[in-house]
This record gives sequence, C-alpha cells and structure tokens, in this order.
Amino acid sequence: MNSPFGQKILLGVNIDHIATLREARGTLYPDLIQVAWLAQQGGADNITVHLREDRRHIQEMDVRALLDRIRLPLNLEMSLAADIVEQAVLLRPPMVCIVPENRAERTTESGLAVRAEVNRLRPVLESFAALGIRVSLFVDPVFEDIDAAAALHVHAIELHTGCYANARDASDAARYWKILAQAAEQAFHLGLEVHAGHGLSYDNVQMAARLPHIRTFNIGHAIVCESVLTGMESAVRRMKNLIETAGSHR
Ligand code: PXP
Repeated sequence: MNSPFGQKILLGVNIDHIATLREARGTLYPDLIQVAWLAQQGGADNITVHLREDRRHIQEMDVRALLDRIRLPLNLEMSLAADIVEQAVLLRPPMVCIVPENRAERTTESGLAVRAEVNRLRPVLESFAALGIRVSLFVDPVFEDIDAAAALHVHAIELHTGCYANARDASDAARYWKILAQAAEQAFHLGLEVHAGHGLSYDNVQMAARLPHIRTFNIGHAIVCESVLTGMESAVRRMKNLIETAGSHR
C-alpha cells in the first residue's frame, strides 16, 4: 500500500552537477563516491544521477561505481533513447525515473508526455520489470498523464514541481501547490507511490513538504550549490531537517 499521511518524506540527492564540475576540466575529481558518502552522512535516502544522451555530466562508469560502492539505493534518471535503455539494462539500477530529454535544454524542462509515449514505454517497462527494476515516470501534474502512468502499472510517478518552484509570486505558488496536491491525491488513490522534484530549494521546500502523500523529494541544484559553501554533508542535513520539520505537520 502507499504511504499514509504522517510517513516521513525521503530525500533523494541528485549529484549530477558534481560531475558537471569534474567534466568542466576533465579531471578525476571531485570523487562522486566520496560525495555520495557525505550525502548519506547528512541523511540522504537515495542518490540520483541522470545519464544524459550527451553524457555532459554522468558517465556509465559513474553509474557502475555508484552501484558497486555506495550503500544507498541509486535512482537512475534516463530518457527513452535506445542506447540509454540499453545501458540501463546492462547497469541494472534498483530504480529508474524516465524523463523526456531535449539536447538543448539546461535541465529537464517538462514531464513525460505519457499518453504519447505509451508505445515506446511498454517494451521498456516490460524489460525493466523482468529485471526487477522499479520505474517512476516524471510527469507534469496533469490528470490524463497520471491516469496513463497508472494504466502502465509503474511503481511511482515523480511530479514535476517546476510550476510551483518558478511561480512569480506567493499567490501563483499557492495555486500551483493546489494543483500538485490534487495530482498527488489522484496518484495515491490510483495506487502509485508519489515522488516530486525540480526547482526545490531551501526557501520553497517546506511548503512543498506539506503536499499530501509525497514519499520522496529528489533535489539537486540547490543542495549542490549549498555544498559549495558548507560541504555536502551539512547541505543535505539542512535540507533534510527542513523537510522533516514541515513534513511532520502534514
Ligand atoms: N527530478 C528530476 C526528474 C529531474 O530531472 C531533476 C533535475 O535533474 C530533479 C528532480 C532535480 O531538480 P533540481 O536540480 O532543480 O533540484
């Protein structure tokens, strides 16, 4: 059964941009394993990395090393591109989050068009199910896409929180919060685990943590930026504390 109200929200830490820093100069440092370990010390519940089609940050060898050497579950973000699916099958992470990918984008800009992608999704989901890989689909808070995700029997959806995080003002943020809350209710009642992420920061995460039924937040940019100032362990601990404090009032 899905998470009831009151269950703690888990924190997935996306460390892509640690690899972005490394790739900027083609060095061997910073070491992703060490960073993942510090995130774990700070209270991270999983580590997320996105193996992008252009390999601009995370490489296959990073995913392999993280799978072999960290204790936390690894969540692999990936598109439906054939070579990425092939790599995911070889790497066999415990969970994947399927996202749309556009080469020119700076980061994932929208949720997956689930209804339009059903035919491409089906065989991929079948091969992942055969390997015991849990699947989450990154979706916008749109009724039809959540319905389509449930019909595909995926384990979870991850709600794209960009609309809320990028809201122009407080009333816009409140409006998008309500849309996300309705989407989370819908997904929960369809039997899906509910994750959320994108654009969450130290300033906006507490209101997001009051959304119903959220099992996991996946957060990258804000934590990596804070880690430059305070170190990864402390950056993760601060985010985790904010989530736990707000989440306990759900
Ligand atoms: N979830 C998904 C599916 C994403 O693509 C991203 C961005 O990599 C995140 C969460 C994290 O977003 P941010 O870096 O803005 O915290």
